[in-house]
Amino acid sequence: MKKILELITEEVTRAFTACGYDAKYAKATRSNRPDLCEYQCNGAMAAAKEYRKAPFVIAEEVAAKLAGSPVFSMAESVKPGFLNLKIDEACLAGYLADMQADAGRYGCEKTHNPRTIMIDYGGANVAKPLHVGHLRSAIIGESVRRIGCFMGHRMIGDVHLGDWGLQMGLIITELKCREPELVYFDENYEGEYPEDAPFTISALEEIYPTASRKSKEDEAYREAAMQATFELQQGRRGYRALLAHILDVSVADLKRNYENLNVSFDLWKGESDAQPYIPAMVQKMKDDGFAYLSDGALVVDVKEETDTKEIPPCMILKSDGASLYNTTDLATIVWRMEDYHPDEIIYVVDKRQELYFTQVFRCARKTGLVPAETELKFLGFGTMNGKDGRPFKTREGGVMRLEQLVSQINREMHKKITENRKMKENLDISAEEALKTAEMVALSAIKYGDLSNQAGKDYIFDIDRFTSFEGNTGPYILYTIVRIRSILTKYYAQAGEEGQAVIQAAHSASEKDLMIQIAEFNSVMETAFEETAPHKVCSYIYDLANAFNSFYHETKILTEENEETRKSYIRLLELSKAVLEVCIDVLGFAAPERM
Ligand code: ARG
Repeated sequence: MKKILELITEEVTRAFTACGYDAKYAKATRSNRPDLCEYQCNGAMAAAKEYRKAPFVIAEEVAAKLAGSPVFSMAESVKPGFLNLKIDEACLAGYLADMQADAGRYGCEKTHNPRTIMIDYGGANVAKPLHVGHLRSAIIGESVRRIGCFMGHRMIGDVHLGDWGLQMGLIITELKCREPELVYFDENYEGEYPEDAPFTISALEEIYPTASRKSKEDEAYREAAMQATFELQQGRRGYRALLAHILDVSVADLKRNYENLNVSFDLWKGESDAQPYIPAMVQKMKDDGFAYLSDGALVVDVKEETDTKEIPPCMILKSDGASLYNTTDLATIVWRMEDYHPDEIIYVVDKRQELYFTQVFRCARKTGLVPAETELKFLGFGTMNGKDGRPFKTREGGVMRLEQLVSQINREMHKKITENRKMKENLDISAEEALKTAEMVALSAIKYGDLSNQAGKDYIFDIDRFTSFEGNTGPYILYTIVRIRSILTKYYAQAGEEGQAVIQAAHSASEKDLMIQIAEFNSVMETAFEETAPHKVCSYIYDLANAFNSFYHETKILTEENEETRKSYIRLLELSKAVLEVCIDVLGFAAPERM
């Protein structure tokens, strides 16, 4: 379906060209003076120069041509040369009826040119607990993936686990201290290793921090851990077997955590999966003359003439031949290209890694790992801060674990919902349902709180504000959806009149506002995809929810006497609900039956 602004611009274009002016001047936009008009066109101002006429004269001519247009109920020229437009109520209602008939898509067409887009998000580190820093990557990445799927692209999400660093050596070293007799440490052992891991997830969660602390206090311990990491990376059998155990145990736990956040991945690959691709990749970079030795390390120059700041070379191998975070990311690009031929790879990573990714992307391009037509995009996100404006911490000042944060919000939400329930004497909600509802609403608070900010900006995670039922919050959006559902449920229960009534021309200003807002849906989704900007979906549904609530407060819906009008309201409610539901679905949360 055409976008509503396209439809309007087409009509204005007809008038401009009929008056002898170029079509390029006919572009219409939403009005920035909603008190005066709904849409506007400022083209006469620009056309004035080319046609050497007063802008107002041009605007007047065009407005005159638009008189009687089926698209506008008002087309008015105002000084010095603006064209103020109001859409015709029947035309708008017709547009909404077409949206409604297009069930599931509501006027938003799937792309005719589907692309394969890989998206690298989550980025959890194996054996280390998820902390709030990982929350943003998961939430934003999940939404970007869903928006892409909705638009009809082939989105492939990869969690890209951090499973190849010093933390592995630390765990191995600590295990060796505790249980040196384990078969994994016997270098002469040639048999099969046990199937079950010699530790549980809770043991693992204790082992890593202990090892990490010890390594800071004890130089020899740290060296042992580095040596273990090196031997693991060189392929020592027993250590590889331990790595597999650590991965199994840890991934099971991560999956549970991500599931609670309604975040999922198509691929559970990690840094370790890239290792087999490193030798050939490095050799080729050398053979092609891109990689050279500098102070013993192997590097590729990535600076460009147009750089305004210094971009250091991309280091491929350290002087001891060890690979680095860079090497792994480059080799990951190798398998991603070989296995999936993506048209684009999007990285949802902390924006402090931006320079690093500039180096990696340039190196990948220069050395031919990606063809010119494959896009590499860095979607860097800002820091999640506490109310004090500093990175989010626990009350004691420690690093906040994701699980702690989620349960804190769950508790907060549960408290509010039970209070609310008492207030409204909705006492038939079971304790179980209250818990489930609290979880759903809490997730909306966390995700909407995050996604409603432009990803690149830092933001303040304000629990009181995010969990509020009023204002620009997830719970407010859910509350609106639940309100619509409850009206519809009442209606269906009493009506029995399942007529095919369509949406009629608006009966009031607030209804028209709501309709205009609904009509933006396809345009918002398209922009959110093109700009990788979930926050555009958030601000859209906030406006939509506000428009709905104004309409709701001013309108008797179920008690409307005229049956056709009543049915038309119901159709409008159904469409509002459908659009809101699609939007929260691409944001990665859902609404409970009641609140
Ligand atoms: N594991 C990394 C971290 O915790 C994030 C990984 C980001 N993705 C990537 N391809 N490097 O910081």
